Amino acid sequence: MNPADRLSPREQPHPPYFAALNHMLRQHGGGIAQLIIDLDRLDQNAAHLSAHLDSSLPLRLVAKSLSPPALLQYLSKSLNCQRFMAFHQPHLNQLARDFPRSDILLGKPLPLAAARQFYQQLEGPAEFVPAQQLTWLIDSLPRLYEYAELAQALEQPMQIAFEIDIGLTRGGFNAPEQLTAALTWLQDNPNHLNVRGLMGYDAHIAQAPFWLGRRQAFRNSSARYKAFIEAAQRFPQQWPQQPTLNGAGSLTYRLHTNAETVLNEVSVGSALLKPSDFDNDLLSELQPALWIASPVLKALPGQLPFIGKTHALLQAFNRNRQQTYYLYGGQWPAQPHSPNGLRYDDLFGRSANQERLTSSRRCRLQVDDWVFFRPQRSEGVFELFNQIQLVRNGQWVDRWDTIAKT
Ligand SMILES: Cc1ncc(COP(=O)(O)O)c(C=O)c1O
Repeated sequence: MNPADRLSPREQPHPPYFAALNHMLRQHGGGIAQLIIDLDRLDQNAAHLSAHLDSSLPLRLVAKSLSPPALLQYLSKSLNCQRFMAFHQPHLNQLARDFPRSDILLGKPLPLAAARQFYQQLEGPAEFVPAQQLTWLIDSLPRLYEYAELAQALEQPMQIAFEIDIGLTRGGFNAPEQLTAALTWLQDNPNHLNVRGLMGYDAHIAQAPFWLGRRQAFRNSSARYKAFIEAAQRFPQQWPQQPTLNGAGSLTYRLHTNAETVLNEVSVGSALLKPSDFDNDLLSELQPALWIASPVLKALPGQLPFIGKTHALLQAFNRNRQQTYYLYGGQWPAQPHSPNGLRYDDLFGRSANQERLTSSRRCRLQVDDWVFFRPQRSEGVFELFNQIQLVRNGQWVDRWDTIAKT
């Protein structure tokens, strides 16, 4: 236990930002846990992102981190972006439907059955032309052979990019010689596969150990990326004149500037909402824009089963056990954020039905007040809710469905 927890009871009312949201949700929150996006903050984050990227380093929106269709529509418009990175076959079909002019790159290799399913579920007559607008990801020779067979069976060209390992160790071709082997196979065997380029994700750079440093880790991974490009350039028949050289992500896009990158596009998703896993000095100018809010069902004096009066001793030792709150729902991948001073109760445990939080007596939350949580990530969080409530300047403005209505 943090000694400060014992000495000074954590207690804060909501700061003005959350007090306004609390007021709004008490009137319009509908009494159930809600997912909230602050559109003002989202716009500001998008403006920061655009200011960093210029026209020679275009953006690809990472769909898994921004999955609600209306959110992708909103960002595609505000960032003037038609490039998407997809990770999930149903999302892929959705993107092809919603963005008929888009260019979609897979962010992970999909099993052949999922790729086949994409074509089976493609609604026709579709404006989206997979042979020109979709790029599958190939991480190994066996997958290359499989996809070549699928293209043959479909009797249509398929575009592919190679996943390369530039230090992350998450798979893909991990030496230029392996890429050479893949391109040699394409050169020597008739096939319907068109090479579009490379994808090398570099999130490991953000966690570079102190003895290496982020700058050097960046230089090392760029050098590895360059070696793959040089290997590919030896195959002018297979390698396109204007290849896609994709990389980066929310944790590292700030390191990629025009002068200092081998990439010609960067993928970014989560940073636009800045969940807490993205609290990183490189992203300090961005603001959290995604919240989970839940109404207080019960405000009770702190107690625990079986220990009765002994609990008073526990409270004397830790005043932050004086008060207990039960909320509507819970067990989200998120930490209590406002009011400050609320904590999960390790002794009691978590609940997806009625989450329990503890605090000092001076945290004066009432039944029907709202508690705000900051998600650790956005990926996988949208799916826990049916809708997202949109706010501007502390006022409710609209709502979006988290998944497409069919
Ligand atoms: C291939 C790839 N590119 C980019 C990203 C970055 O996504 P985000 O910006 O949401 O962190 C990821 C995240 O997992 C990824 O797997």
